[in-house]
Amino acid sequence: MTDDSQRRPIIIDTDPGQDDAVAILLALASPELEVLGITAVAGNVPLPLTEKNARKVCELAGRPDMPVYAGASRPLMRPLVTAEYVHGKTGLDGPELPEPTMPLQDKHAVDFIVETLLEREAGTVTLCPLGPLTNIALALIRAPEIATRIREIVLMGGGFFEGGNTTPAAEFNIYVDPHAAQTVLDAGIPLTMIPLDCTHKALTTAKRLAAIRAIGTPVAEAVAALLGFFERFDETKYGTDGGPLHDPCVIAYLLKPELFSGRHVNVVVETGSELTMGMTVVDWWRVTDRSVNATVIRDVNAEGFFDLVTERLATL
Ligand code: BDR
Ligand code: CA
Repeated sequence: MTDDSQRRPIIIDTDPGQDDAVAILLALASPELEVLGITAVAGNVPLPLTEKNARKVCELAGRPDMPVYAGASRPLMRPLVTAEYVHGKTGLDGPELPEPTMPLQDKHAVDFIVETLLEREAGTVTLCPLGPLTNIALALIRAPEIATRIREIVLMGGGFFEGGNTTPAAEFNIYVDPHAAQTVLDAGIPLTMIPLDCTHKALTTAKRLAAIRAIGTPVAEAVAALLGFFERFDETKYGTDGGPLHDPCVIAYLLKPELFSGRHVNVVVETGSELTMGMTVVDWWRVTDRSVNATVIRDVNAEGFFDLVTERLATL
């Protein structure tokens, strides 16, 4: 499937991050998808690093032509919280990746998102947020008319039955910018949320990492080094074999939705209480009459997911 008219156009909004890096590689390795651009946001590390890391990953994939845009350097209302304790000082600790030589685009990420959605046929472009939702919320605030033009938002964020990974109640992406997350959930856009309840079932076990390493290409070696670094923190924290491979679930969901299952429910983000700030309150049992605003994914076929990731990485 190489004909552009057959490919699903997406924008990846991201804060790389080792798992973001694998998500970008998976998308660039997938002929079903047309990556229109990559927009960086502050999150795992500050913006100057996330935009640079996005360019490093494009170059690793042999795609220096991919436009990368820098977006918001801090959340809408709250000070930026970063996660070097998980991702390392650079955000992409693990392998030695060269400094990128491809340029950062002059245009602001929010302008790129708005202009692309206005230019492209309505209902065709899918947004894939892998970090705090600041850029997406700003785009919706700047040009509310884009809401009806978005085909779907498929995002990694939140947690309900599984609790939080940043506070007892909140997952990192939503915790960092809860107001942006609520803005996006309120916009009436078809939205799929892939929370910790799902991603904590997609573990980079030793066997799965060995299968990636065995591909033997420079990309596979870099991915094995990225994930080898990334999993250490969570292995210690959760006592598991491997860490959760969060963000690639978003891309895998676009490629093979049959690997995932969830429910159409209402989700509200806590933005008032400091104790539970950023909690995604999911009405899983439909105990309120709040209207459905998301499909929340709870399960993944982890073997099928890692087979897909491994098979696609082998093509880069
Ligand atoms: C999310 O936070 C980041 O650390 C990861 O890249 C992922 O997007 C998981 O909570
Ligand atoms: Ca991320």
